[in-house]
Amino acid sequence: MKKSIIMAAALCITATACQKNSGSGDAEMDAFISELMSKMTLEEKLGQLNLVAGGDITTGDALNSPIGAAVANGSLGGTFNIKGAEKIRELQQLAVDSTRLGIPLLIGMDVIHGYETIFPIPLALSCSWDMDAIETSARIAAKEASAAGINWTFSPMVDISREPRWGRMAEGSGEDPYLGSQIAGAMVRGYQGDLTSPENILACVKHFAFYGAPDGGRDYNTVDMSRNRMYNEYFAPYKAAVDAGAATVMTSFNTVDGIPATANKWLVTDVLRDRWGFDGLVVTDYGSIAEMEPHGVAKLADASAMALNAGTDMDMCSFGFINTLKQSLEEGKVTQKAIDEAVRRVLEAKYRLGLFDDPYKYSDTSLEKTNIYTPENRAEARRIAAETFVLLKNDNNTLPLERKGRIALVGPMADNALNMQGTWAVTADHTKYKSLRQGLEDALGSNGTVLYAKGANFYSDPALEAGVSPGGSTRDPRSDAELLAEARRVAAGADVIVAALGEAAESSGESSSRTDLTLPANQQALLDAMLATGKPVVMLNFSGRPTVLTAEAAKVPALMNVWSPGSEGADAIADVLFGDVNPSGRLTATLPANMGQIPIYYNHLNTGRPEDPANPNFQRYRSNYIDSPNEPLYPFGYGLSYTDFDYSNLRLSAPSLNADGSIDATVTVRNTGSRKGTETVQFYIRDHFASISRPVKELKHFERITLEPGESADVTFTITPEALSFYNSNLEFVAEPGDFSVMAGPDSERVLSADFALK
Ligand code: NOJ
Repeated sequence: MKKSIIMAAALCITATACQKNSGSGDAEMDAFISELMSKMTLEEKLGQLNLVAGGDITTGDALNSPIGAAVANGSLGGTFNIKGAEKIRELQQLAVDSTRLGIPLLIGMDVIHGYETIFPIPLALSCSWDMDAIETSARIAAKEASAAGINWTFSPMVDISREPRWGRMAEGSGEDPYLGSQIAGAMVRGYQGDLTSPENILACVKHFAFYGAPDGGRDYNTVDMSRNRMYNEYFAPYKAAVDAGAATVMTSFNTVDGIPATANKWLVTDVLRDRWGFDGLVVTDYGSIAEMEPHGVAKLADASAMALNAGTDMDMCSFGFINTLKQSLEEGKVTQKAIDEAVRRVLEAKYRLGLFDDPYKYSDTSLEKTNIYTPENRAEARRIAAETFVLLKNDNNTLPLERKGRIALVGPMADNALNMQGTWAVTADHTKYKSLRQGLEDALGSNGTVLYAKGANFYSDPALEAGVSPGGSTRDPRSDAELLAEARRVAAGADVIVAALGEAAESSGESSSRTDLTLPANQQALLDAMLATGKPVVMLNFSGRPTVLTAEAAKVPALMNVWSPGSEGADAIADVLFGDVNPSGRLTATLPANMGQIPIYYNHLNTGRPEDPANPNFQRYRSNYIDSPNEPLYPFGYGLSYTDFDYSNLRLSAPSLNADGSIDATVTVRNTGSRKGTETVQFYIRDHFASISRPVKELKHFERITLEPGESADVTFTITPEALSFYNSNLEFVAEPGDFSVMAGPDSERVLSADFALK
């Protein structure tokens, strides 16, 4: 076997790599903070490490609240989840005027997919494959949040996940590390810019690490994975966010090798700080120091000492650092140096924001009126939302619809703006948004009529529905039979039917794991009743995760996944339904054919006993199922358009490349349909033989191109040794000489392939 080529370590496995970021390199900042810290008491220092939720004072009296008291006595470094610039300004003023050293506060918020202009959930955004759009969404979110006094968002969430049972897939970018890395960088750039502008805020990469792989898809559950999988499949997006300059990182709730991430020194210090050179602030997730007790690792005092010693700086809501570190210092469990390092990193974050120059940089209360939910921001959200919809099926050109006639609109999402906003719309103003019904009515105008009937609640069972609040509050008290009868009557008078079905907003997101991802029976009954009319039926599937749509896909002529599309989702859906916008979204997570296939993902290993793809039957002693195909319903990368694209002539500039060289793979893509359309051209690589088994394909490059009817374009992927590299069993990032294939296509299954060698 030829010697492998060790690459400049992308994840900085070698201890010497990635030193460049260590130390701020900012002498002025260092001097300022040293001077400030020289004046601080231990209590004041511990106060800086304390981050406490302040959400309840959004509607209350900020100054006379427990948060107000904590700010005034200097026992808070920051607070979060307070809405309203006025309130935040009052607190900031309290910190500046009433404490001995006047250190301003970090003000955090989960601005995950927009502030009041709500963008589609991150999983949906990822389906745009449009990095400019994603960066724009983060920039607008930061602009609005900063106008409301916020200087720190707990985003981006970059956890790779292959676990649709886990509700938090909604918050991430799907299953692919390469795409996830591009998106992580785009979001950090969008939020932070260079942090000099008052419209940019601190980003927080989360949840470090591997939170997206809980056993059984149950939130907060155990994660256990090999180093190989960590390095080759899960680490990349966190590292990409750090490389893009993310100022803060949040640890995850789960254990890593049995040690809770928050107190995992290997993770936080060895990997994140020493190897990757991250010099920013590490904050825990909510209460995760205290959760080390139920984890069975340590009670609060020891847990706090362990977390600090692991390299974690700020304690979110465990009250462990503030209440126990003094004693742990006296007992020698932690050092003054460790405390000082953590304090320094909190103060550096404040310094980078410019808060020491101007504590009120984010407190211009007039901006709240001018910068939030503006027509420009909404126009961007509408444009971007339309890019996230994934057209899964469109027989006989059922879509687009003609902008005329009588359209029956049925389903629990048909007139339900509340549930279109998605899991993290905590700063939304729900009085402002349109439902799909309103969106379609506006789009039709006097050309046609929308005939509405709800037809079904999310669930028949009120208890299940109440669990997905705020969906619970939109429940219709009538029986399933009454709702269905009304929908039948309405549909009888229509030319075409749009069924708006799927999940309520709170069915996905944190603490929203599910074991059955098929459409609930009452919604299926509604769909069947609509199909029984014999009229064309378009099913819109609203979801915060990949759901199982096998039954529906078999019977509806047109099916589109619209996720949780956000505040402008109604207009965006109308834009696509009536053909003003040609759909271009592509799946970033595999849609399983059934629950038993989960976890299912495109970049799997081949195994020693792959099934014969030419044989559709069960093959004993092969890696397959007796009762199910291995294939998903729709693969990663999949999505249709109102036009067609043809791929041809995948060619290579040379049959091989050297360690210091590259070759070009070029494919010709032609719009063979009759509409202008945008195609995401995807390139995958397979390494046929390596020192460790490698995936059957891995995304390595993509490009979005827009073609007029009849137009064609050549799209090129320049293959470098780095694109062929992986972490070997010594965790060295290597390119091993040998045989490879490059594949190009519209998704991860329908690909053209060409072979080449790395010499
Ligand atoms: C817990 C969640 O896991 C995290 O994503 C979020 O940022 C914090 N709570 C703060 O709300």
